[in-house]
Amino acid sequence: MIHLLAVLILILESSMAQEKTAIVFGGNGFMGSETVLSLLTQFDKVIVVNRGNWYYDSNLRIMQRKEVIHIKCDRFKHKNENNLLKCEKFIKLLGSITNIDLVVDFSAYKPKAISDALEVLKGKVHLYIYISSDSVYEVCEGYNTASGLSKETDSVRPKDMEKRRMLARRDSYGDDKLSGEEVLEASNVPYLILRLPDVIGPRDTTHRWWTYQLWMQLFTEFPLAIPIPRSNQILKTSYVYSKDVASTILNVTDLSRTKSEILNQSYNIGFEEGFTLKELLYELESEMGQNIDYDLNADENAFTLFPSVSRGMVDITKAKDMIGFVPTKWKQALREVVQFYSGAALKYPSELKDVVDNLLDHVVPDSKRDEFSKLVNRIASNGVESQSQESPAHHNEL
Ligand SMILES: *[C@@H]1O[C@H](CO)[C@@H](O)[C@H](O)[C@H]1NC(C)=O
Ligand SMILES: *[C@@H]1O[C@H](CO)[C@@H](O)[C@H](O)[C@H]1NC(C)=O
Repeated sequence: MIHLLAVLILILESSMAQEKTAIVFGGNGFMGSETVLSLLTQFDKVIVVNRGNWYYDSNLRIMQRKEVIHIKCDRFKHKNENNLLKCEKFIKLLGSITNIDLVVDFSAYKPKAISDALEVLKGKVHLYIYISSDSVYEVCEGYNTASGLSKETDSVRPKDMEKRRMLARRDSYGDDKLSGEEVLEASNVPYLILRLPDVIGPRDTTHRWWTYQLWMQLFTEFPLAIPIPRSNQILKTSYVYSKDVASTILNVTDLSRTKSEILNQSYNIGFEEGFTLKELLYELESEMGQNIDYDLNADENAFTLFPSVSRGMVDITKAKDMIGFVPTKWKQALREVVQFYSGAALKYPSELKDVVDNLLDHVVPDSKRDEFSKLVNRIASNGVESQSQESPAHHNEL
């Protein structure tokens, strides 16, 4: 009898020890929520650490899963202290966990966020995936290849300190993201860095894509030409699909167990093809079946939402060769993204408001604000009206 009990305890212990745990910093928004969902297919427990602001339907999609533990914590609150140490619930939870199979860090905008994390996670982490950016190349010397595409090896800061400071001032985001990479490189944690170009996909919390799509959707009735400055007709840059980011994270986590040479390195990922802003908007226009006017003589400072970099495309050869990265076909992603935002006005009123405010603040002439708002209200309530016509009112009670 005692024997049996001991065996049972042993089995119980070993199954507990094998419980696979991931921590996701961020995870409430755009790529993060996509990633948490894909991690749930392979992890027993996903700890999601963020400030508790939920966007679109990510709260519903993620929080109702019993494998998800949500920790509300602000990583940027205090400048001179470890912010994570202040999040008691998180620290207490960490105390009960000996192994963290994976950390995915979407929300380290400052290098200190990573050093804070490494301090509290100490020797427990098997793999730390840092979501970095192609903006790191903006603060570096420049590409070395004739192709004009940034390769991973191009992330070398200028030796000249004056130039270095000048570039860092010009792109403080890129500077901070690169400093974050440097913190990981100097640590003793196995890591992987994904350098993302501009991300497109459903539930984009930057609202950049949706702003252009709504602009085009309203164009027939509200024909405001979309400005494309000269430089945005020439500069091709890269984009990545949010779903490819989630899928890559899962893939490299798997792969790292058998192919350790992929560790401790950075990878560019993105679509095969790059686009100028002009090309991107043409793609969107044709997918929507619209006919849009552009202002091709727009001032260089005109209102544009893409791209966020100035150095052109990234080279994704290394990711393809080393981690088997296969991007979604552009046309397929385009179709999915357009479809998502076509129906979004009805489903996400609070995000719609941000998009509309964006247009009201930067695009719509003052004299036409009322007219524009009326048009938007009609679109935002159209589906609701037709829905209630189709279904009897008592359906609401179900
Ligand atoms: C990656 O870095 C960790 C921590 O420094 C080290 O233990 C590990 O051996 C490295 N792995 C490879 C494949 O270089
Ligand atoms: C991840 O791996 C799966 C299975 O091998 C593959 O089909 C998919 O394309 C990979 N994802 C990416 C973005 O490479």
